[in-house]
Amino acid sequence: MMMLPIHSRFPPMTQRIRARRSPIHGRGVFALADLAKGDCVVRYRGELISHAQADERYGDDGESGHTFLFTLNEQYVVDGNRRGNVARWINHSCMPNCQAVIEISAGGDPRRDRILIEAVRDIAAGEEITYDYGIVLAVPHTAAMKRLWPCHCGAARCTGTLLKRRRRTEGGHARVECKM
Ligand SMILES: C[S@@+](CC[C@H](N)C(=O)[O-])C[C@H]1O[C@@H](n2cnc3c(N)ncnc32)[C@H](O)[C@@H]1O
Ligand SMILES: [Zn+2]
Repeated sequence: MMMLPIHSRFPPMTQRIRARRSPIHGRGVFALADLAKGDCVVRYRGELISHAQADERYGDDGESGHTFLFTLNEQYVVDGNRRGNVARWINHSCMPNCQAVIEISAGGDPRRDRILIEAVRDIAAGEEITYDYGIVLAVPHTAAMKRLWPCHCGAARCTGTLLKRRRRTEGGHARVECKM
């Protein structure tokens, strides 16, 4: 993948997206301008914490279907609740218009990996921005657990849950090397 310099991968973000009430859930994020396939829409920001800290703060996987946590890598989680930006309001969809991409730091420092939300197709102004959360819990995805994590994305092929089947190969979000 060709890596563009940072200023062209992050064109002026002001007023390109905004959070407001969503028909999917609570607040969501909406495009204020047309976005092109491949655009980096926003970086998911927040406090960098360990998995153990995340469990201490919010309990383990089984307790609530609401989270602002995003797993960055095996060492770290980004807590959008603290020092987070507008990206923390982006809802999940089973037929999303964006994907989350983990950009691996050039120096191999897991603290410097970044989560980027990229458009997977052209998005018209007014559309809600969504990506597939790809949540895989450490506990079995029982029917009760799926009810705790319901999906209301409205897609024709909605799976009814935010939870994803564990894949045999390493699953999760796309990962790209940062060449900068
Ligand atoms: C990062 S927050 C997104 C912002 C959220 N809408 C809010 O107002 O707090 C993630 C949480 O939003 C809810 N959520 C996101 N997408 C959803 C969907 N497709 N269906 C139902 N709930 C969803 C879930 O509770 C999820 O844990
Ligand atoms: Zn769905």
